[in-house]
Amino acid sequence: MQHILSSDQFTREQLLEIFNAAKKLQDSKEIPQTMKGKILATVFLEPSTRTRLSFETSMLKLGGQVISIPNSESSSLNKGESLEDTGRMIDSYADIIAMRVPKKGQVNIFSTHISTPVINAGDGTGDHPTQNLLDLYTIWKEHGKLDGLTIGLMGDCCNSRVLRGMAKMLAEFDCKLIFIAPPEVQMRIDVKSYLKSKGKDYKIVESLDEVITDLDALEVNRIRHEYFEDKERAKEIGKQFIISKQMLEKGKEKLILLDPLPRINTYLEEVDEMPQAKYFEAVTNSLFVRMALINSLLG
Ligand code: NCD
Repeated sequence: MQHILSSDQFTREQLLEIFNAAKKLQDSKEIPQTMKGKILATVFLEPSTRTRLSFETSMLKLGGQVISIPNSESSSLNKGESLEDTGRMIDSYADIIAMRVPKKGQVNIFSTHISTPVINAGDGTGDHPTQNLLDLYTIWKEHGKLDGLTIGLMGDCCNSRVLRGMAKMLAEFDCKLIFIAPPEVQMRIDVKSYLKSKGKDYKIVESLDEVITDLDALEVNRIRHEYFEDKERAKEIGKQFIISKQMLEKGKEKLILLDPLPRINTYLEEVDEMPQAKYFEAVTNSLFVRMALINSLLG
């Protein structure tokens, strides 16, 4: 793998290799300093808290260093410089690049002429492969497997790069997928066709209550209001993804609750005390997954 651009580029073997490497790092007393003398550039042209800091922390923990364009105002892209030219330039400074952009496909354009490995850290409604890696890793770690599990993806399935990517990455395993959303923001045809092409089945429902007893894991993502013209409508739909403790009462004991965060009208704070709530643990896990990925790209 040269660049990490999409959630469907990994084989099952590659995914398991990353999870095993991440687990090994998480279990080790000391993190091997494999990135000494190497530089990670983080280029974030869309807001981020966790993803950028997680990439940077991972690189620092591996003994490497970090340079950063933390927002769209602070680079010459703001003066109109092209993504291709920006890419060529950062190529000569950094050994690896993590990049977030507002539009689908822009990371691919950026990576066209450069040899430095580029990781897509979220491209509009496109993909967010490392978020999917860390969420799958969290489920794999808790359940000891992915095959045979029933996984619910709830929220803005239509616009959420996280939910769309989860569906594609999970197609490498033998899972039952359930998309939980009102028709207006249900999973788009491209993802459904992809699943069909891989011989994978999925179920579509409108409410969590219909499937809560079946689920081994549930990932929810907020309404992605930034991609809506009608913000008021987005707000209305978004309220349907609020999850209370009571709504989860019939869930399995080993149900894994995930959310890429920020949680905006998703799990109520009362859910945090449930042993099934793993969304903050996933943030810790993200460090080891990203370390494993950096090691595999630069190893
Ligand atoms: C997600 C994203 O940016 O797509 N956040 C993240 O990376 N942790 C989810 C979101 O913004 O809702």
